[in-house]
Order: sequence, then structure tokens, then C-alpha cells
Amino acid sequence: MKIVTVVGARPQFVKCAALSKELRKHNEEIIVHTGQHYDYEMSKIFFDELEIPPPDYNLEVGSGSHATQTGKILMGVEGVLTEEEPNMVIVFGDTNSTLAGALAAAKMGIKVAHVEAGLRSYDRTMPEEINRVLADHLSNLLFAPTKNAVANLKKEGITGGVHYTGDVMVDTFEFIRPDAMGRSKILDRLNLKSRGYLVLTVHRPSNTDDPSHLSVILAALGKIKYPIIFPIHPRTQKALNENGLLAKIPPNLRLIEPLGYINLQRLMSEARCVITDSGGIQKEAFLLSVRCVTLRENTEWTETLIDNRNILVGVDERKILAAIEAPDSARQSKAEPFGKPGAAVGSLALSMRNARITISF
Ligand code: UD1
Repeated sequence: MKIVTVVGARPQFVKCAALSKELRKHNEEIIVHTGQHYDYEMSKIFFDELEIPPPDYNLEVGSGSHATQTGKILMGVEGVLTEEEPNMVIVFGDTNSTLAGALAAAKMGIKVAHVEAGLRSYDRTMPEEINRVLADHLSNLLFAPTKNAVANLKKEGITGGVHYTGDVMVDTFEFIRPDAMGRSKILDRLNLKSRGYLVLTVHRPSNTDDPSHLSVILAALGKIKYPIIFPIHPRTQKALNENGLLAKIPPNLRLIEPLGYINLQRLMSEARCVITDSGGIQKEAFLLSVRCVTLRENTEWTETLIDNRNILVGVDERKILAAIEAPDSARQSKAEPFGKPGAAVGSLALSMRNARITISF
């Protein structure tokens, strides 16, 4: 089978890494990088560290408004699909690259497989929620990472082509764990002691594009007595610069460049707690058994809330501080809602082979 895989942003490289290795055993895979993320630390480092084959096409769409970015990807992917005539297109997660890849294929009558189908935050102010819902409704094969995701699809009347596979991020994480834990020198480089610091990531428009939100977050974190390492997303850096917030960065907050996968996993693994608004990082903290404090009112990864391993605090100083200082239950909790290591990619590839017969690709 000839498969076109569409990726464009950091979390998609992470998911593609595990699946690509498995798919290539039985299929021809063409990787299309949309160019949504393009800086070295946001893109190429993931291909290098995760041993993802270099993209066959790079659409180089870059940054832009939602319509501009989505529209450019749509046109670029259509060109590739016309050239390659694949049996199937695979898209991951919920970014603009996901939606545009799925839409281009569906309109050309090419089967679409959505990895990480069925996630819902039920918050349509998030661009990702719109992307997820539409990608799911365009897809022929829907690979749901959790049982909740299967139930969410059912609520929207989607039952055909749905496969509960477990989460491919678990597989990527297992693949890289020895390197992350053995080879990464990030703790030495930043002069950090195990459990002597926290990690912060913020990149959601709901937080970065409202200066009052960033101000509350900075003020709250300034009251923590530990250093907080803050690998900063370019969008957030821009927001701090443009809104005159650099002067409000408290002394315990250490801004560093965005980190690749290996160093970030290592940094999180020894942290007292991770503070984030990213979906993927909530889950990675869970897999590392590190407590997470989420700067959002809701989460599509509701399983991470088990045993208070992840606490939703929105942008409320009192709640942020209480959650950071709450007792840590994550290291004892044994729940495995995202599946066993090695299970997801195998199950996904098998479902794809079986579907080939029933959906006749
Ligand atoms: C995108 C996804 C989000 C995902 C995140 C992972 C959408 C709508 N959002 O958000 O779901 O969680 O990726 O990181 O698809 N920029 C650079 N260099 C880069 C990439 C971005 O400087 O390599 C800057 C640009 O100023 C750009 C901004 O970051 O305008 C935002 O990038 P964009 O890809 O639009 O969205 P993300 O916030 O990264």
C-alpha cells in the first residue's frame, strides 16, 4: 500500500516517529512536512533524534493566520496527492496541518486515517478542537488512543472505521527512553538537581495572546521557592516582547530555547512538577509519573486527571499555587490508561491491514 503521511508541528513528529518505523515494514510511505513548524528546535531536531526519515516533500508554508496557513497546506497537499496517487493519507492529532491534510485527501476521494481520533475538550474557542472534530468526520479510519475517545466518537454518530489502539506516544516514549535517561546532559547543563526545580511550557493562544493571562502566570510562579525552567515557544517569546512583559519575569523563572524531545523528557522526568497548557506534555508528564498542573479550564486528555496526577487550574493565581504545593500522588499511581508500551503501533498497523480488505483501499 502507498501511504502519504502528513506532519507539520512538533507533536506530529513525535507521533509519526513510532508509526513510520512500523508502517515501512509492509508499505511504501511518503512523508509530507507542511512546514508549519520550521525552526531547527521546532522541527529538524525531532527528525534527527527520533530517527524519522527525512520528508519527501516540504511545503514550507510557514506561519500565518489560520485561514492562510490551512489554505496553503490544502493546496500543497493536493499537489502531492495528485503526483503520488496514494491509497491512503495519514494525519495526526489536531493542528492546522491535520485538518488541511485530511480535507485535501477526502475531497480527492482518498481514504483518510486519523491517528489520535476522538479527543474532545468540548471547547470550540480552541482552534485544535475545530481541527479535531472536522478531521474525525472526514476520516475513514479512526485510531482512538483511549476508550473515552471511542465514546466521544460514538456521541457524534461515528462508529464505522473506529479502532481502539492505545496511544502511539507511549511507543515513541519507550523507543527514546534509554537515550533520554542515559545520554541527555540537560540537568548538568542547567546545573539542576533532581526534584529541585519545576518545568513550565506555555504556548496556547488563550494564554499567550492575552497579556493579563501571562501576567497572572508570571506573578504566581514568582512566588514559588524553586527555580522554574521555561523552554519558550517562539509565539510566547513574541508575546512577552510585544506586550512589555519581559520586566515582569520573576528571578526564579529561567527562560531557555525550545528543547528537543530527548532533553525535554529528561528535564521533565526529574522535575518536582510540570506546569503546562500543552496537551502532549500533560500526557508525557503522566507517562513519566510526574505531577502536572495545567493552565487551562479543560483538557481533552481527561485520563490524566486520575488520582490528581494532573490538576486543571485555568489562569487563577490561587489555584496555580495550591496545585503546585499539593501532595504529589503521581509517583505512586499505577494507572495505565494510554496502553502498554509497544501496543499502539502494532495494533494500528494491524487495523490498517485488516481495513484494507474491508474498505478496499
Ligand atoms: C501549533 C498547533 C498546536 C500545537 C502546537 C505544538 C495549530 C492551530 N496549532 O501551535 O495545536 O499544540 O503547534 O507546538 O495548528 N513559530 C516560529 N517558528 C516555528 C514555528 C512557529 O517562530 O518553527 C512562531 C510563529 O510566530 C508563529 C507562531 O510561532 O506564528 C505560532 O505557530 P503555529 O504553528 O501557528 O502554532 P503553534 O502555536 O505552534
